[in-house]
Amino acid sequence: MRLSVFASGGGSNLGAILDAIDAGTLAASVAVVVTDREGIGALERAAARGIPREVVTPEAQDYASGARFADALLDVLARYDTHAIALAGYLKRIPPEVVAAFRHRILNVHPSLLPAFGGAGMYGKHVHRAVLDYGARFSGATVHFVDTEFDTGPVVLQDTVPVHADDTPEALAARVLAVEHQVFPRALALLADGRLSLDGRLVRILPVAS
Ligand code: GRF
Repeated sequence: MRLSVFASGGGSNLGAILDAIDAGTLAASVAVVVTDREGIGALERAAARGIPREVVTPEAQDYASGARFADALLDVLARYDTHAIALAGYLKRIPPEVVAAFRHRILNVHPSLLPAFGGAGMYGKHVHRAVLDYGARFSGATVHFVDTEFDTGPVVLQDTVPVHADDTPEALAARVLAVEHQVFPRALALLADGRLSLDGRLVRILPVAS
């Protein structure tokens, strides 16, 4: 499965994907890393591995309408013969044209137990601050199919972490990030192996083909 990995930050989830590929637990290759900004760790990680990189910044190209941002993304996805897209710490909304072109082939990892603490404003430290302010006893990570809204697509995998009484957002973020690095490659492997079946919004994980 040829993956295009989208990122906006340090790229530790990209690193986890590459580690799973190297370990033979994810039957995929990273065809290109696409980011919405320059100068981030994800681009450095890709460069270190000789992986092609494309920076598509909606603002910089002054895209009058979202459609041109979508066209730019679709052009990159086609140029690298993309089979599926992994949103690995990517902060821009995926345009509907791209969601439609890659229906049920885009997975996102979100650092909370969706549907709790999801949505447009819930990214980075804001998620963990909100979890602590709410007094939740558990948090975790969610991998879901991407649809046209933030964080609302069918859930593929989740895993939990305890919230400690003295947690800071940074401490909780680190605990959740370790879980992201486990569930995201696992979900991508299920997609690569054709083991994800959708029944409405319910994702069924098919047994290993015997
Ligand atoms: C992760 O919690 C991710 O879910 C969020 O940003 C954090 C860093 O991701 N969007 P990465 O290290 O850039 O993969």
